[in-house]
Amino acid sequence: MATRTPPGPRGLPLVGNTHQWVRDPCAFKERCADYGRVVNYEILGWDAYMLTEPADVERVLADEHDRFPKHEEGNDELRTFLGDGLVTSQGDLWERQRAAIQPAFDMTHVKRYADVMVDRTAETSERLAAGEPVDVRDAMTRTTLEILVDCMFGRDIDVADRGIYDAVAAFQEPMRPRNQPITFFAPDWAPIPFLRRAERALDHLEEQVYDILERRRAGEEDRDDLLAVLVDADQAMADEQIRDEMLTFLFAGHETTALTLTYVWDLLSRNPDVERRLRAEVDEVCDGRPAIEDLFEFEYAGHVVREALRLYPPAHEIRREPVEDVRFGGYDVPAGSLLVLPTWVLHRDDRFWDDPEAFRPERWADGGDRPEFAYFPFGGGPRRCIGQQFAMTEAQLVLATLVRDWTFERRYDDLELTAGVTLQPSGDVEMVPRRPDAVGREH
Ligand code: HEM
Repeated sequence: MATRTPPGPRGLPLVGNTHQWVRDPCAFKERCADYGRVVNYEILGWDAYMLTEPADVERVLADEHDRFPKHEEGNDELRTFLGDGLVTSQGDLWERQRAAIQPAFDMTHVKRYADVMVDRTAETSERLAAGEPVDVRDAMTRTTLEILVDCMFGRDIDVADRGIYDAVAAFQEPMRPRNQPITFFAPDWAPIPFLRRAERALDHLEEQVYDILERRRAGEEDRDDLLAVLVDADQAMADEQIRDEMLTFLFAGHETTALTLTYVWDLLSRNPDVERRLRAEVDEVCDGRPAIEDLFEFEYAGHVVREALRLYPPAHEIRREPVEDVRFGGYDVPAGSLLVLPTWVLHRDDRFWDDPEAFRPERWADGGDRPEFAYFPFGGGPRRCIGQQFAMTEAQLVLATLVRDWTFERRYDDLELTAGVTLQPSGDVEMVPRRPDAVGREH
């Protein structure tokens, strides 16, 4: 059969489409989607193929996942920092580790984590003061990091005292959208301040991780959190493997949820009716502070989070690499290329969503009639996010705990976004907390 290369935007010699992609990756992919089912472009020296049909996304992530492992070169970038943990490992190692770690995320465990989620959020609430502006993204990042460390590694670990909060921020700097191309092209030894800061942060986090591990091994207490699962696994894990997994969870287990919550507060501030309805549901369901049982009664809260994840999926694209030449819709995609599954594009595709740009939580009330992979904020198939239940529980409990006592007023107009590994606000997200009673509560 004749070879057919898919269409795509014209690039420049040497850089291909990198300059368009770096400027605004999401807008670039939206433009690309106009070319059709499979779109070819070139970024960072990679021959990229973007798929815009949910059925093709399903084929890659689920039905034929063995033929589409993670993109190796992209993975290597992360591996420098995270080693071979659950996010970056492939093949047998990944399979063994996923099976070992999965129990820490079953519903019984997630139920137990709920109290921590509410406790930590209550502390955030106490730190807020009516009328005093806060960066909501920072506040949500601190809250979700404290929750993560508390649930995964132990209640006795103080994130601020141990410098974990600052180190995680520095450690993530190379992956920030504006830094990513530099990180990618610069040699490891380059005297670039954010790379050196990240290196020092990594040393500090490693020290902390080994110290936490040592204390756990020496302790008498019976625990059943993630660290216990790692330490007590049937097939003993080397300390280096446990280190990689702990760093991986520090990296993958809080920022995405913090971003989701940041987007929720931004959207609520623009949609006061939605916020009033959410608050009314929380008031009606919760007798005192929110608890895990309430989660099963929440309906609208779940819709609000799902809709925020549709409009602003923190994992705005998923990358894979075909191990052999494949065809999608009559087009050839060569082995070793970069396959892009554009969450952002499919979540805003008007073939599947009425008025796709609008924030309408009620669109989730009837479940909707659309292909399964028109919506995949947590990925799909065997490498689906292991923290999905955790994140959905956390987002709703944090939201329910805060929305009863606070409403946030924006101090900016538009939420400008940029996209690196995750989709992020490009500037500060400064908001003024106010008491809802002061603004008028409606039941
Ligand atoms: C709203 C919050 C979250 C979003 C949107 C999200 C999104 C994702 C996505 C899309 C993937 C799949 C990536 C791929 O297939 O290439 C993934 C994987 C993963 N996520 Fe999440 N995630 C969230 C929260 C969490 C939390 C709370 C944890 C842990 C506590 C977590 C831990 C992980 C890990 C370890 C993986 C790798 C799983 C594997 O490959 O086996 N995530 N996440």
